Amino acid sequence: MAQLLITGGAGFIGSHTCLVLLEAGHQLLVLDDFSNSSAVALKRVAELAGTRLQRDQPTLIKAPDTFTLVEGDIRDAPCLDALFASAKACGQPIDAVIHFAGLKAVGESVQQPLRYWDVNVVGTQRLLSAMDQHNCRTMVFSSSATLYGYPDQVPIPETAPIQPINPYGASKHAVEELLADLAGCSGAAEPIQASGAGWRIARLRYFNPVGAHPSGRIGEDPNGIPNNLFPFITQVAVGRRPELTVFGDDWPTPDGTGVRDYIHVMDLAEGHREALHSLLSADPQLLTLNLGSGQGASVLDVVKAMEAASQRAIPYRIAPRRPGDAAITVANPALAAQQLHWRTQRSLAEICRDGWAWQQANPNGYGDGCR
Ligand code: NAD
Ligand code: UFG
Repeated sequence: MAQLLITGGAGFIGSHTCLVLLEAGHQLLVLDDFSNSSAVALKRVAELAGTRLQRDQPTLIKAPDTFTLVEGDIRDAPCLDALFASAKACGQPIDAVIHFAGLKAVGESVQQPLRYWDVNVVGTQRLLSAMDQHNCRTMVFSSSATLYGYPDQVPIPETAPIQPINPYGASKHAVEELLADLAGCSGAAEPIQASGAGWRIARLRYFNPVGAHPSGRIGEDPNGIPNNLFPFITQVAVGRRPELTVFGDDWPTPDGTGVRDYIHVMDLAEGHREALHSLLSADPQLLTLNLGSGQGASVLDVVKAMEAASQRAIPYRIAPRRPGDAAITVANPALAAQQLHWRTQRSLAEICRDGWAWQQANPNGYGDGCR
């Protein structure tokens, strides 16, 4: 059992991972500023895990509790220092950090690059400084397949060229570089390197995380109009939006629509658990892994799978290609299977079944009427 700090733990991937980690017997401290999430998600995680959520201040962490929430910003160095110090003072020093907190909207990053670098890069640097000062040198970091830009080969191995094409991707790349520097593996081309500096770091490159916990109690709750395909489709299915816009049917793919590697968020959460356990039981190292299924699905495949899951028609119209999109992005997940003995278990049909259960039970997400 470890004491873990989960930054951004109230968000989409963080909340599902908190549940998996509580079920694995860990004690969690969540730090989130709720800029893109709701505390309701964590209350529901506590319900599902059969525990209670304690709210606390970074300076006041009391008796060790299983699941504690601290509202704060990863850029707030005094808050981070107080959090690490008070966990230590109450006999539960933080053993490892799972770092989800960050901004993730590609289009927004083009409009607000300074904000993306501030939260994603400066925020992570402050977090790493606090970890270093408090002798906590294990981190699982949320990286992204967006680093591969327009991939030269598919399925994409971890050794593929890193070529981010927007400020969001650039900020993830900068953090990956910082982590390699810390681990004493600057410019690391190999996905696994011994860490000369005593850090245990996993850089996990997610493909397209979607779906929800099968209970329908927690799921993805984007602000405003969803940018991403999956939440857009579930909102069409539930009647919140009239139709889907399909960005291009002239891609060099079997049906002409874009192909992605959709990964069930519970598979992804379990991947974090395995990465954490692997780091905690191994020598210091820098691990860089794709987390994806290795299977591609087109936009129209997802539409059909959601129609089957929801038993509702999903109207759509074809529009021009979206600038910045790649035709096909699919992971080569072999290294994660080899290193973590982890592979995805859930199919596209299960992704749609669970995503639909969440959307149907919570048509307005964590908002009105569903607390
Ligand atoms: P999310 O927005 O649902 O979760 C991020 C969480 O971080 C939110 O709860 C938000 O309130 C919190 N947060 C943001 N800024 C913060 C700050 N300054 N201080 C404290 N908390 C802050 O996003 P998600 O989909 O759960 O993504 C989690 C991580 O995974 C992100 O780093 C994201 O870039 C990365 N990622 C996501 C995807 C995806 O498609 N969802 C793909 C690849 C990588
Ligand atoms: N698409 C549509 N209509 C929509 C939304 C998307 O046709 O309304 C299409 C896109 O053109 C693409 C596919 O659906 O072909 C998937 O698009 P998403 O926006 O859902 O996902 P992306 O692959 O573009 O990007 C996502 C995240 C990135 C992350 C990347 C890899 O937005 O942050 O997955 O993890 F980096």
